[in-house]
Amino acid sequence: MVEHLAARVTSALILYSTNVVLSIVTPEAGGTWSRYGRDGFARDPPDSAYASAVNVTTHGIRIRPGSLADAPAILDMLDSAVAWMNGRGNTEQWGTTPYSQKPGGVARVERYTTENAPYIAELDGKPVGALVLDSGPSPQMPIAPVEEPERYVRLLVSDRRYAGLGIGAALLAHAAEETRRAGVELLRVDCWAGGGGELVAFYERNGFNPTDRFLSGDWPGQALARRVG
Ligand SMILES: CC(C)(COP(=O)(O)OP(=O)(O)OC[C@H]1O[C@@H](n2cnc3c(N)ncnc32)[C@H](O)[C@@H]1OP(=O)(O)O)[C@@H](O)C(=O)NCCC(=O)NCCS
Repeated sequence: MVEHLAARVTSALILYSTNVVLSIVTPEAGGTWSRYGRDGFARDPPDSAYASAVNVTTHGIRIRPGSLADAPAILDMLDSAVAWMNGRGNTEQWGTTPYSQKPGGVARVERYTTENAPYIAELDGKPVGALVLDSGPSPQMPIAPVEEPERYVRLLVSDRRYAGLGIGAALLAHAAEETRRAGVELLRVDCWAGGGGELVAFYERNGFNPTDRFLSGDWPGQALARRVG
């Protein structure tokens, strides 16, 4: 797989960043491509270049590892998501206070970008989506542990101005690829299960199967799992 894809590389621009990265960009395949991280989750030999099968070319979306510098952009996306939800009558999922103004909100996002594995979806160089992977669910959530290694989606959000482009789906495909690359077979996520269950349906459309239903206080949640091995 790696060799096969590497052979297709006709020209490559290799970019390094402090966080993780080895990003490869090529004009072949009509735009965007693959990028490869060496964070705590990646188990690949450090000097190898890998081509992943993340297909994010349709709208020219590029996914790269994130860092603390991305925290303000992630907070903007979260704030706009709260406003978007509220505009649809959903005041329960994330409340009505902009995320950046919630007690501990900024610190939590900073922790996501420093202690977990953050990924940023970019469109024309602008951050339009964010994914955070961890090695398990939030300890604050009543979600049953599993008896095997897993990767867990701790955050998924896209800039609401770019809804409908499949940014969230592309980030979930990337999460699956990163999980597989780490030699881990299980990817889990949890989400709000209220309203008409639209969010649960979104994850089901992206290959996840509902597992445990839970209540965090009176907040209804649904855990979902996807096998990626
Ligand atoms: C979930 C999300 C990342 C998906 O992004 P995307 O791939 O760009 O897809 P879209 O934004 O077009 O949403 C896909 C569908 O899910 C629905 N959806 C997304 N978030 C939803 C939410 N919080 N509540 C209800 N429905 C939601 C959208 O309305 C859309 O439905 P449609 O296909 O019938 O139009 C993005 O919608 C988002 O940021 N939502 C708000 C934050 C959120 O709920 N994140 C998930 C936390 S677990």
